[in-house]
Amino acid sequence: MKKFFITGVMGFVGFHWANNLLKNGHKIIGIDTNITPTKLLENKNFEFVNESILENKSKLSELIGKSDYVLHLASIAEPDRYLSHPKTVIDISAFASIEIIKLCIKHKKKIFFTSTSEIYGKNLKIPFSENDDRHLGPTSIKRWCYSSSKALIEHYLEACSFQDNLEFRVVRLFNIYGPNLKNRVISRFIENALLNKDLEINNGGNQTRCFTYIDDAIDAFNLIIESDRCKNQIFNVGNTSEISIKDLANKIVQISNSKSKIKSKSYLEQFGNSYEDIERRVPSVKKLKDFMGWEAKIDLDEGLRRTIDYCKSN
Ligand SMILES: NC(=O)c1ccc[n+]([C@@H]2O[C@H](COP(=O)([O-])OP(=O)(O)OC[C@H]3O[C@@H](n4cnc5c(N)ncnc54)[C@H](O)[C@@H]3O)[C@@H](O)[C@H]2O)c1
Repeated sequence: MKKFFITGVMGFVGFHWANNLLKNGHKIIGIDTNITPTKLLENKNFEFVNESILENKSKLSELIGKSDYVLHLASIAEPDRYLSHPKTVIDISAFASIEIIKLCIKHKKKIFFTSTSEIYGKNLKIPFSENDDRHLGPTSIKRWCYSSSKALIEHYLEACSFQDNLEFRVVRLFNIYGPNLKNRVISRFIENALLNKDLEINNGGNQTRCFTYIDDAIDAFNLIIESDRCKNQIFNVGNTSEISIKDLANKIVQISNSKSKIKSKSYLEQFGNSYEDIERRVPSVKKLKDFMGWEAKIDLDEGLRRTIDYCKSN
């Protein structure tokens, strides 16, 4: 039994992973600015602190000090907010993360950090492997503040393991989805499909992504945190099956038996003139397969059915 400190525990990934870790007999201390009514709060092995990781450093220090392992998930992870709140993205994903890493060094705790497939930016080399280049647009394009903040933290973790003996693990996540996801492409499409409202795609919807069901991601996380081989390593975590956003929209309409129409908006209409997109995003998961034998098991049709069924019953 371990005691995990989870930042962003009320978020989509945090909530699912916390439930899974509790089921596996662990204890959790969770922190989040958000509080949602959930059975987690009634679990005697779950302690919740409703605060920001940007404030109250002495409380953070105390919580990290009394845990065995830090799972640092808190972030602004909703793409719309990279554009509307870029400073907050940088404050949380970069500056608050640095403080948390310093506290892990002080208390000699291991840290697990959720990075992102956005790290690779517009690189045209498909699939993306962990040591591939990062091709980003200019700093005037707000979107890249998220990728750059996460990359700064990856650099900082590498540097602290080198200079301060910090033990870390990083995962770069490729579009994780499932029940309770909010404000991402899959959750928006499903909500609209169930209400027979239009599904909006951008610029024709030919951009491709690889969607990874939450249970597969959690299996990967558990293998990574438990294994000494994964110490100080960075892993892509994603399903390798690629689909265009247009095809995703059609699939969701079909699986949910919806009457929704699919409408396209130009980037200019949707985001104004300060936007760039990533045309294709596909992970190589060879590294995690070689290290731990992991690859995603739940295909998109099955994952969507589970997510849609959950949305219907809630
Ligand atoms: N879901 C994905 O597809 C995906 C893809 C790439 C990376 N990630 C990363 O995985 C992590 C979890 O993502 P998610 O999908 O669960 O996002 P989420 O938005 O559902 O959860 C993030 C949580 O962090 C909390 N948070 C934000 N600022 C905070 C603060 N100052 N103090 C305390 N809590 C704060 C939010 O309230 C939220 O509950 C994030 O680091 C994200 O960048 C997720």
